[in-house]
Amino acid sequence: MRRSPSTINKTVLGMVVATVAVAVAVALLVGLNLAFVVGLLAAVFALASLATRLRPADDDSALRPSRFAVHLAFGVVVTAIVIQAIPYGRSHDNPAVTGEPQWVSTEQRDLMVRACYGCHSNEVEWPLYANVAPVSWAIASHVDEGRSKVNYSEFDQAQDDAEDTLEVLLDGSMPPAYYTRFGLHTEANLTDAELADLIDWVRATPGLSDSDD
Ligand code: HEC
Repeated sequence: MRRSPSTINKTVLGMVVATVAVAVAVALLVGLNLAFVVGLLAAVFALASLATRLRPADDDSALRPSRFAVHLAFGVVVTAIVIQAIPYGRSHDNPAVTGEPQWVSTEQRDLMVRACYGCHSNEVEWPLYANVAPVSWAIASHVDEGRSKVNYSEFDQAQDDAEDTLEVLLDGSMPPAYYTRFGLHTEANLTDAELADLIDWVRATPGLSDSDD
């Protein structure tokens, strides 16, 4: 079964495009920064082309799709193993709690813990899958970025975006959609009644809203 080189190259190209598409789709679903994806894909394709160069086809120079598929799989597997050695994302630290907003009620605090503390506190609970790259990178970046915007565990210090708390609850932009995807973090799904209560309480909490809301 010999095929003309142009068909072959189209199939190979299709595999490359499919690999990129799957990587980007997965990244969007789990909230992985696209810069990480570019790096991962570069590693996968570099390893695949290295494999192709080290083990050239014996019959002809054309790149057969079946060979390319094996080399691509080699690239994916080696990349997946090697990235586990990268330290970023492995430190699951929770610095000391130095101050919290003046919550109106303990129920308010409970709701904030359920929906927001996974990224905006020093009481982050790291799931088991937070130990596996590249998911660990995604989680580390969410927590780093979340804490840098507002950390409800360091409320003794100024928090840049604390006053947007009411706004994100009103517009439903927090927690981010990826947080509760695939049945994860069901505790963060507040009922309409819980959300309405939380919004009332946040309005009454100093520093969590600004005059425009
Ligand atoms: C999965 C982690 C995660 C969870 C859970 C989460 N956030 Fe965020 N939050 C982020 C990240 C990342 C950003 C910065 C990027 C952005 O704005 O989308 C952010 C930004 C914010 C900002 C600043 C946004 C702005 O427009 O000023 C506020 C305020 C905020 N979050 C509040 C909340 C509240 C309140 C909850 C709970 C209802 C919550 N977040 C849940 C990750 C999270």
